[in-house]
Parts: sequence; C-alpha cells; structure tokens
Amino acid sequence: MFSRFKKPDSGPAPTGLRPVASPAPVAPAAAPRPTAVSSRPAPAAPLPKTAAEAMAVDKEKKRKDKLMELKVELHKRLLDNLNLSALEKASEASLKLEIASIAAEALDEMGVALNAQDRQILHQELYDEVMGLGPLEALLKDDTVNDILVNGPKRIFVERAGKLTLTDITFKDERHLLRIIDKIVSAVGRRVDESNPYCDARLADGSRFNCMVPPVAVDGSLVSIRKFKKDKLGIPDLVRFGAFTEEMAAYLQAAVATRLNVIVSGGTGSGKTTTLNALSSFIANDERILTIEDTAELQLQQVHVGRMESRPPNVEGKGAVTQRDCLRNALRMRPDRIIVGETRGEEVIDMLQAMNTGHDGSMTTIHANSARDGISRLENMIAMSGIEMPTKAMRSQISSAVNLIVQASRLQDGSRRMTSITEITGMEGEVISMQEIFRYERLGTESNGKIIGRFNATGIRSAYSDRFRQWGYDLPAAIYEPIV
Ligand SMILES: Nc1ncnc2c1ncn2[C@@H]1O[C@H](COP(=O)(O)OP(=O)(O)OP(=O)(O)O)[C@@H](O)[C@H]1O
Ligand SMILES: [Mg+2]
Repeated sequence: MFSRFKKPDSGPAPTGLRPVASPAPVAPAAAPRPTAVSSRPAPAAPLPKTAAEAMAVDKEKKRKDKLMELKVELHKRLLDNLNLSALEKASEASLKLEIASIAAEALDEMGVALNAQDRQILHQELYDEVMGLGPLEALLKDDTVNDILVNGPKRIFVERAGKLTLTDITFKDERHLLRIIDKIVSAVGRRVDESNPYCDARLADGSRFNCMVPPVAVDGSLVSIRKFKKDKLGIPDLVRFGAFTEEMAAYLQAAVATRLNVIVSGGTGSGKTTTLNALSSFIANDERILTIEDTAELQLQQVHVGRMESRPPNVEGKGAVTQRDCLRNALRMRPDRIIVGETRGEEVIDMLQAMNTGHDGSMTTIHANSARDGISRLENMIAMSGIEMPTKAMRSQISSAVNLIVQASRLQDGSRRMTSITEITGMEGEVISMQEIFRYERLGTESNGKIIGRFNATGIRSAYSDRFRQWGYDLPAAIYEPIV
C-alpha cells in the first residue's frame, strides 16, 4: 500500500490503532422554549442560544475534535511508514494520492466513516503535517494575514489590516506545537530547548520567525511570524492606501534621489521595513547598494544590490556574525549606499560614521515614537555601545549624519500612516535643531472607531530646496503650503 514512499525496511503497519469513537450521539431533546411573554421591552443583550443552535455548535466542536484526533493517529502512522527521503523527491500530487490511500485504509481499519468534505480537510491537514508546518500552514497561505502570533497551543492570533483577531485554529497540545517549532528551527540548523529557550529563524518562504519555549514561556510556547510578502508594497500602493500623499512622495523622492541620509522611525509593526523598502525604489539603478539585516526582508528592485544577513552563534556559541561585523566589512566593499534593516545596538556608531564619510544616501530604521525620541534612541545606543563621548560631540555627530527622520505609525484603528517627516537642520548650542515639513493631523473618530485625519504641510520650506533644485528636483512651492 505504501509503495515507493514506504520505508524499505518497515515492517507491517501498526495495527494497534486506537479506535475513535463513532459520531457523537444526538444531544438530548431541545429544551422547551420559554412561553411566558414579558411586557417589558426586550433586553439589549443577545438572547441565549436556542437548544438547536447549541446542539449545532456542540456537534461542530465534536466533529473538529474527532478530525483532530484522527489526524494525530494517522500522522503518527504516516511518519512510521513513509520513506522520508523519497518524500523529498515526490511530487505534491503523488504524495497527496499516497496520503489519501493510507488514510482510507486506516479509516477502514478503525471503522470510521467520513463525508467527502471532512475527508478532504483531513487529507490536506495530513499533507500540511507531513510536508509543512501543520495548523500554521493555512495561515501562511492566507495572503490577508500579515502576522501570526501563537500564545501556547490553543491560542493563535492573526493580524489583518492592522487588527489582531483570535482564530479557531489550534494545535493538539504543547507537544504538537513544539514539534512544529522543532521542524522550523532544525531546518536552519538551530535548536531550542530548556537551555536555549528562544530562537530567530527564517521560514522557507522568507517569513520572519521567532519562538520562545517553556519554561521561559510560562503558558506554552510563544511564536511570532511576520509573513513575507512576495509583492512588497510600493510607493503607489502606499499612496493609494493613504499611508502618505503624492506631495509627500514627491518630496521623499527628491530626498532619496539627492542622497539625503534617511532614518525611518516607528513602533513595532508600524511599517518601518515596508517604508524603507518603498523608499529604496527612488535609488538610481546604477548605484551599488549593500543591505545588512538580521533577517533578510528587504526586496530591492535595483540590479546592483549586495545582501547580507547577520548570524547568531551556533550551538557551541561560535560563529556569530553581527550587523556591526557586516557593516564594517561593507565599508570595504565600495558601496554607494548602505541600508541597514534596523539599527538597534552597537552598529549605530559605524552607521553614523558611514553616513558621515561619503556614503550619503544611506538609510536605516529605528524603534522610536517620534523624531525627537529617535534622536534619544540613537544617543542611548551610542552610550550603550561603550563609547565615551561628550553629549555635544555625540549630538553633533548625529546631526551631521542624519538629514531626515520619517515617522511610521500604526494608529488605534489599525491603519498605518507616515505621521511626520522631519528634517535635521543642525545644532543650536547643545540641542539638535529640527523642522517638521509634513505631518498627519487627527481630526476626530468615526462611530466605528475609524480615525478621521489628514496629511498637511507645516508651511516650512525644506532646508534642502536648493539641493533638490540643483539635482533637477524642482518641487513646486505649493507642496509646502498648509491647508487651513
Ligand atoms: N501602509 C500600509 N498599509 C497596509 N499594510 C501595511 C502598510 N505598511 C506596512 N504594512 C504591512 O504591515 C506589516 C508590518 O509592516 P513592516 O514589516 O514594514 O513593519 P515594521 O515596523 O518593520 O515591523 P517590525 O517592528 O516588526 O520590524 C507588513 O505585513 C506590511 O505588509
Ligand atoms: Mg521591520
């Protein structure tokens, strides 16, 4: 039965499969409907479910539990009997056929009858278990999902359009979840266990993955996945989605093309990487760009791009290559521009130096809530990297390195907007001087929670207007005029 997928040396298929309970008995008869008619108005709260509805829900739950139970049994049996090295070469269609035949035989043996729809679901889930990431597979295939967040085996949340929701997808138990985690991390040569309880990895499709396992994760393993988007949002998409206006896009084009050093600042999941990626489209095709990231997410369209990815130490604690190592090496690779996915530590000093010493037009992101906050973050990172520098020297280094801070934000209604574009204009005494050119103004909130607002110019003309003009980007004065 297992034909070419069967292990050559596997003995007879295990017969001791636990029979699964036949379909649940019909629930007790429906409770009588209340007959008393109250003269009071109907309560605002939803009426309790009718017995028929409750029965349907119960039946659906039992059906799901039964499928889950069957899947676990069959999966065990598949793994015991399949020849895993033959699997790698098998086509999807032939493997699916094989799974269907194994499942049919096992179900027969167990005396379980399933309807066509349940059988199809079961086959797909078995395929996902054997070849993919089990319950996560359906979410990975769903293009509307941006993030997948697992809080223990029974709670899987997803983020769609900036909003988090709980799904009805679950793992069987913590062991099932751990097995999937193990599959992911071992594919990239890592291991998680009690002594290495957390790990970063990249899934085969490029998605960013992080996990933390018990006992450090108290209520079961925690997994976070940032889905990789094959088609990254470009400038026109972001304008269309209302992330910023065409005027702001024209300004940003001038800034990037004339090689200003840009920092994209924002909170977690606010759209920093997306913005950085979109901004990179303004870089000319003949420039040599080097990108450095902890997890390679950027997708630059230019021809001349060298991509680097840092690496954590291996199990023996050796072989780490930090972003700073990559950055230092990048300086010897004759870059025109350097793009660092996210500056979060000691590499800050090399980044600022690169920006100050001939690699104009470099870009990075930082985790901060405003342009001013972004400057403080840079100062803190410099201080934490162990470099002793008087505050004034530190600030003057920052002010001469960074030209522009673009603030990305995820608002309460889930929308992602560029809430501010701020230029750094120099130093006044010990303070870095800045001027905001564009900002997002909140005007109110609709009854459904949607935020009403608009982008506006502040009325301040760019300090780089002359530079823009000299480079052929003659922006009309009107883009700096505020709507009143
Ligand atoms: N303006 C936008 N409109 C709709 N979706 C967006 C927008 N900007 C970003 N996204 C989506 O939001 C998700 C998070 O974006 P992104 O990875 O750029 O955030 P980030 O700030 O870099 O996150 P992190 O802090 O985790 O690195 C992605 O799936 C991205 O496709
Ligand atoms: Mg990011």
